[in-house]
Amino acid sequence: MEEFVKNTKSMHPTVFSALHTNCKEELDELYKSWAKRYDADVLNTIGYIGHIISTELLLKYLSATDARILDAGCGTGLVGEILERKGFDDVVGVDFSQSMLDQAGEKSIYRSLELGDLTQDFAFDDNTFDAIICAGTFTCGHVGPDALIEMVRVCKISGYISFTVREQEWDGAPYAEIIAKLEQDGRWHCIEQIYTDYILNEGVSCQLCLFQVC
Ligand SMILES: C[S@@+](CC[C@H](N)C(=O)[O-])C[C@H]1O[C@@H](n2cnc3c(N)ncnc32)[C@H](O)[C@@H]1O
Repeated sequence: MEEFVKNTKSMHPTVFSALHTNCKEELDELYKSWAKRYDADVLNTIGYIGHIISTELLLKYLSATDARILDAGCGTGLVGEILERKGFDDVVGVDFSQSMLDQAGEKSIYRSLELGDLTQDFAFDDNTFDAIICAGTFTCGHVGPDALIEMVRVCKISGYISFTVREQEWDGAPYAEIIAKLEQDGRWHCIEQIYTDYILNEGVSCQLCLFQVC
């Protein structure tokens, strides 16, 4: 298989596979077999911090603990765990892997957990959420930048959207273009955008972004 992601030499084998699947069915199968080990692998082995940095950035600006928050690509609920500790109790998780949602469900921290594909139209009305977090899901072979357009649609005016984009995914897909178009169209504006550490033990960085919907 052609290696299209850099930093592969020291990469955890399951993470490597997750970034190199050929179709959604393969990715779903991968998460099905990984779901129970995911937290231990990403937290203890590779030093993933996407859930921490995206939540910390959002909570610099969002303090109302009754905010309705969408955790897009929630996986096993690492973002939800932080939000729960900070007192947020109206968090909706969406993910396309039922196995990952099952792990999140065991933690009993989400208001609801919904099976959904973020590469399709979201199953939410316009202006539904006060904030959206998407950690670790804008990554190679997962969800691309078009999902940002749907995030803006379902987020309320003045609501915040916090997300990470793995560096190789940022370089390979038109994130900068879609972000700029949303800005030109007056749909959102940038609060913070930082190039920062993302997977500590593999030397991988990400773009960490916080935008506010207009
Ligand atoms: C690397 S995990 C990140 C999970 C979690 N946000 C975290 O920070 O640990 C990526 C997640 O994206 C989900 N995913 C991949 N493609 C998706 C899609 N098209 N729609 C919704 N979720 C998707 C996977 O099932 C997985 O749970």
